Amino acid sequence: MSNSLIEVNNLKKTFGGLTAVDIKQLGFNKGQLTSIIGPNGAGKTTFFDLISGFQNSDSGDIHLKNKDISNFQPYKIARMGMVRTFQLTKVFDRMTVLENLLFSGSEISNDSLFKSVIKSKSQKKYEENLKDKAKNIMEDLNILHMADSYARELSGGQKKLLELARSIINEPEILLLDEPLAGVNPKLAEEILSLIKKLSNEGITILMVEHNIEAVMKISERIVVLAEGSLIADGNPNEIRTDRNVIEAYLGKDND
Ligand SMILES: Nc1ncnc2c1ncn2[C@@H]1O[C@H](COP(=O)(O)OP(=O)(O)OP(=O)(O)O)[C@@H](O)[C@H]1O
Ligand SMILES: [Mg+2]
Repeated sequence: MSNSLIEVNNLKKTFGGLTAVDIKQLGFNKGQLTSIIGPNGAGKTTFFDLISGFQNSDSGDIHLKNKDISNFQPYKIARMGMVRTFQLTKVFDRMTVLENLLFSGSEISNDSLFKSVIKSKSQKKYEENLKDKAKNIMEDLNILHMADSYARELSGGQKKLLELARSIINEPEILLLDEPLAGVNPKLAEEILSLIKKLSNEGITILMVEHNIEAVMKISERIVVLAEGSLIADGNPNEIRTDRNVIEAYLGKDND
């Protein structure tokens, strides 16, 4: 038994001759906000793909709440409380903002949804609850005025916000955020960052992949650094800032 909420051991993923992920052991504790950083191609997204079930590993195991989830489908992992966002957003362009939220909210169906299908009265109540929840989230994220806009009309930054909204409507225990600030203007980035901080303060365990180092340093309790698929550093922001391996990975060995 491990104390980690998520733990991987000897996790490996290759693409042809290329090793995308090769991690001996890595665990994440409940309630912590951890950033995963590293140069382009370090394996960050692939790591998220593996632990969220979007790709199968070559070898190794992945535990979520002490349960081996190595070959689980993404929907099953999401139902266990671990939900992710994507580097390239996956919002539905032909749906409105509200429809996107309602769809995600009903996607991870559970017992109560099943029961509510049988009983039309509670079905109505379920839909009303979901709508209320969607409204509250949109209000929180300042996108309520866009509820009836088609997702395709949103800016890149607003799509990032919508994707975040979609992920929290299912009340996840664990959120995996893949570059939530990429392509987002500074003002919106600030808003997204405070939202992430707020979710963390509410007790959600957050893993965030992000290239915006300033933001990472500001909000992370822990930073994990990957390079060429492997773990090269792990510590608090101050430790990571001055770590030689990290500086070398970002600047190249010839730079001082
Ligand atoms: N489906 C795939 N087929 C072949 N190679 C892949 C595939 N997915 C990822 N790779 C390769 O695996 C390595 C890790 O990619 P990954 O996308 O995980 O990196 P990353 O750390 O998320 O990079 P970035 O910061 O640019 O998003 C890269 O060399 C990438 O080219
Ligand atoms: Mg990536």
